[in-house]
Amino acid sequence: MALHHKDTTSTKEHKERKRCSLCVLRVLCVFVVGVAAACRQDMHDQPRYKPLAKSDFFGDERSARPLVEDTVARGHLRDDSLLFTGKAGKDFSDSFPFRVDAAVLRRGQDRFGIYCTPCHGQVGRGDGAVVRRGFRIKPANLHVDRLRQKPAGYFFDVITNGFGAMQDYSAQIGVEDRWAIVAYVRALQLSQNARIEDVPPAHRGELEPGGKR
Ligand code: HEC
Repeated sequence: MALHHKDTTSTKEHKERKRCSLCVLRVLCVFVVGVAAACRQDMHDQPRYKPLAKSDFFGDERSARPLVEDTVARGHLRDDSLLFTGKAGKDFSDSFPFRVDAAVLRRGQDRFGIYCTPCHGQVGRGDGAVVRRGFRIKPANLHVDRLRQKPAGYFFDVITNGFGAMQDYSAQIGVEDRWAIVAYVRALQLSQNARIEDVPPAHRGELEPGGKR
């Protein structure tokens, strides 16, 4: 009996102790959540500088930091001289920085139609709509010997940096598209100065009789 009584007491005590520890746990939880909420910092409220504000952290007191020397932003590495300047070494190169195929030529034709024909005309003779309506400085005829003998890189440079009265198109036309235009200019030049030997024998019969050369 005594044993039984003792047993009951210990169960009671045990239950009470358990309840008490639950209480402590609850209080602790509330405390932790409270502290966490008090420490919460949203991104829009984090420490930051206002543009060009003075800084106590950096030695030169500027919060706007200069670019780290010799670093290049992702996607801005321009280590391919031919692709970005049209030059191999000091001179303009006559090679293209990538393979020219029918898709590149079609792209070049499309871009030439948008950016060059208004002044240089569909075929590149310098007789575009703008000229016919009174543009006083005559755009170049791309078929004169001097320009036919220029290397491909030269045309890339004219598009990139402009030439005399012609503005540059570096902002409007991407690097690859400029090369596509150059390829198309080459095709135009060939089209206006082609010899019968340039046409594959199988296609010569398709030419109009009495056509030029
Ligand atoms: C707004 C009119 C205009 C447009 C558009 C234009 N050009 Fe020209 N371009 C000119 C004029 C004008 C000249 C002659 C500039 C001079 O002699 O001062 C010229 C000259 C040139 C020359 C000859 C450079 C030389 O050595 O004589 C080339 C090549 C040329 N343009 C290519 C292009 C290409 C390719 C495009 C299209 C991306 C283009 N141009 C778009 C007006 C234009």
